[in-house]
Amino acid sequence: MPDTMSSLTLRLMLSTVVLATLASPSPAPSLREAADRASVLVGTAVRPSQFAELAYASTLSREFNMVEPEDVMKWWVVRANADTFDFRQGDDVVHFAQAHGMNVRGHCLVWGRDNPAWLTQVQFTSARLSDLLHEHINKVMKHYAGQVFAWDVVNEALDENGKVRDSLWFNQPGIGLAGKGTAYIEQAFRWAHEADPQALLFYNEAEGEGMNRKSDAIYAIVKDFKTRRVPIDGVGLQLHISNLNFDAGAVATNIARLAALGVQVHITELDVSLPLDAREVTHPDDLTRQAEIYRAIVRACLQSRGCTAIQTWGFTDKYSWIGSHSHGTCGQALLFDRSYQPKQSYRAILDELSTGRSGLQQGTKP
Ligand code: XIL
Repeated sequence: MPDTMSSLTLRLMLSTVVLATLASPSPAPSLREAADRASVLVGTAVRPSQFAELAYASTLSREFNMVEPEDVMKWWVVRANADTFDFRQGDDVVHFAQAHGMNVRGHCLVWGRDNPAWLTQVQFTSARLSDLLHEHINKVMKHYAGQVFAWDVVNEALDENGKVRDSLWFNQPGIGLAGKGTAYIEQAFRWAHEADPQALLFYNEAEGEGMNRKSDAIYAIVKDFKTRRVPIDGVGLQLHISNLNFDAGAVATNIARLAALGVQVHITELDVSLPLDAREVTHPDDLTRQAEIYRAIVRACLQSRGCTAIQTWGFTDKYSWIGSHSHGTCGQALLFDRSYQPKQSYRAILDELSTGRSGLQQGTKP
């Protein structure tokens, strides 16, 4: 019967199509697709001078939904000259982000390092320094209002014991609040809130990510600020990791206690640097261990709803700061190799983002 024949043929054809669809591997999602589904931002630090490099720009826009200028919103770039504000390179970052549907994190308004010589080498009075800082926060945040959704207002203000560090802004000579503990940090947050009430305001710190004296001090500052209604919205955990026995469990504990105070946590500068031998080669086991650490940090973040962004400090080993920072002894700290090929660490992050927040118990606190 021609009819029976044709329906059989049709069924055969259909099942072939179904089987072929099942067998052909669907393209793996990008980090940003997996992150969208996990309701978390996945970002990276960027250098706009590299946007013209096709592999750099295409990897960046394909994989990430957030960018942060690695240097070009810092004082030494924006205020290279005392009399002018130079927003050109920061604007390049914003334009790239807008063209690719990415969020921009701002970094950083108040830091004891990476300031221009005209600021650090002249003996300003505290009153003049206070005016300069107020003006800086105001002008920069207003320029980027509506474009930069979150700012590292104060960066690395504490030493390893959790004490306020000596710095230009605190006591050398400071903005008039030297000897008053965290008062200068508080002042910066108040000015930032006035300048852009919509922006999320973060305190960003290194080596206070697990449970230690520095993270205890950050916790105390946030608690105090929240109690007294000083406008703070989040804590940035830098996470430049060089210890391959790193304990991510303590990071999860710290994130949970910060989130319980009602602030967000962003992982802001994650990289895991590896020792290099004389030929600049790493041990293969180290690459595996590195991937495990990346995985554990992503898991620590996703365990708490208060952890809303995971950002790496660059994405290709071609342009990581670790080389110069370690004087060539460490490297290969990021997710893509120098040829933009994904490493084990990339696959580990993608895996964890794809698992998402599903491990969370119903009713888990932020
Ligand atoms: C680093 C940049 O990666 C380098 O390009 C620059 O030369 C020095 O600063 N903590 C921070 C970042 O908050 O701003 C630093 O970035 C790395 C440490």
